[in-house]
Amino acid sequence: MIIKKTRLLFAASALVTIAIASIVSAEDTDKAQLERARTFFKALPDSVHVDDYPHSKARVELGKSLFFETRVSSDGRLSCAACHNPSYHGADSLALSVGVHGAKLPRNAPTVFNTPLLIAQHYGGNRTSVEEQAMKALLSPLAYGNASYADVEAKLKTLGYSKKFEQAFPNEAEPVTAENWAVAIGAFERTLLTPAPFDKYLKGDIRAISKEARLGMDKFISMGCVGCHSGTVVGGQSFQKFGITEDYWLATGSKEMELLKGRDKGRYHDTKKDEDMYVFKVPQLRNVAMTPPYFHDGSVAKLDDAVRVMARLQLGQKISDTDVALIVAFLESLSGTVPAQFATVPALPVSPYMN
Ligand code: HEC
Ligand code: HEC
Repeated sequence: MIIKKTRLLFAASALVTIAIASIVSAEDTDKAQLERARTFFKALPDSVHVDDYPHSKARVELGKSLFFETRVSSDGRLSCAACHNPSYHGADSLALSVGVHGAKLPRNAPTVFNTPLLIAQHYGGNRTSVEEQAMKALLSPLAYGNASYADVEAKLKTLGYSKKFEQAFPNEAEPVTAENWAVAIGAFERTLLTPAPFDKYLKGDIRAISKEARLGMDKFISMGCVGCHSGTVVGGQSFQKFGITEDYWLATGSKEMELLKGRDKGRYHDTKKDEDMYVFKVPQLRNVAMTPPYFHDGSVAKLDDAVRVMARLQLGQKISDTDVALIVAFLESLSGTVPAQFATVPALPVSPYMN
């Protein structure tokens, strides 16, 4: 009897030991997986304000108003928010954006979220900062279509913005300038960061993302996606050829475009250097699940197909449906909520649009 009891106890304690060992090894695996993830990815910072000018509340609020202001565009209909819309996670849901006077743009609108963290702005990287991007949009014939910065400044005064500019730029004799328009919009954009479940994971909360997402993350690393998509915004740090193994349009079905006199050649359009032919900025993958369609021309509608295209064109691999689903689960863990200050529409100065 005593022997039996001892045996039972022994058996029970052995079971407990096995159970503890398996918990410990699962924890070890989880920890090792997290450590590996931390070598490739970084959580979003709390803010990305630049140090050399203060981003006062007045300046950010002015930037928000200007972001939603349509009457500065040459047809009175377009604002940044028209193409970078809170309802579509800072993008517009169209394959190709529609510009001023109905002009068809040659590119898909990326989300405006987290963009101050990118190496440069636009697929071709021809804008160095969000401020420069905003300033040049004013005169672009496809975007705002204004004839000159002086025209923009006159419009802003007529619309009743002088007081808001004075408050946002208190030490300046003449604050209503196109440059300050861009600085204010940049200040607002710098508040549009979208922390996601993946950030909680990176900070140590293993269960913040699903097991599938973690397996997908491992696939994303082992397949080599991280070779281009890594860091804080999972991309956005380099320029790479789109279509390394074959011409990209064979996989995406991308069309020739009149405006570009053929297919989109990426950075080549700006630099005219042969080595920039079909080279594009690697986009960030934060919020990618929320911003279809995909690629610089919105040629691919669904995220799983975009992942297949990437495996084929950038890595020369055929990927199984199971692995695609896991990678998509990982990409979904990069979706943040729309920042509260972006989700509400501002009241703009009361003034008619006169053209
Ligand atoms: C007509 C639609 C439209 C309007 C209006 C518009 N954008 Fe965009 N935006 C786009 C498109 C399309 C791109 C991609 C252009 C490219 O890559 O060549 C883009 C790119 C950007 C980018 C770079 C994102 C990245 O990942 O490289 C930022 C930032 C941005 N826009 C902010 C703004 C701001 C601020 C305004 C208002 C001043 C604005 N946009 C007005 C369509 C628009
Ligand atoms: C050699 C560099 C490189 C590698 C490796 C790579 N990508 Fe990309 N990725 C790019 C570039 C460049 C683009 C932009 C192409 C374009 O739109 O012109 C892109 C675009 C994407 C997009 C579309 C984003 C959007 O908003 O339209 C997704 C999704 C994506 N990559 C996922 C992946 C996955 C998943 C892998 C691994 C299977 C991967 N990438 C491997 C360079 C790369």
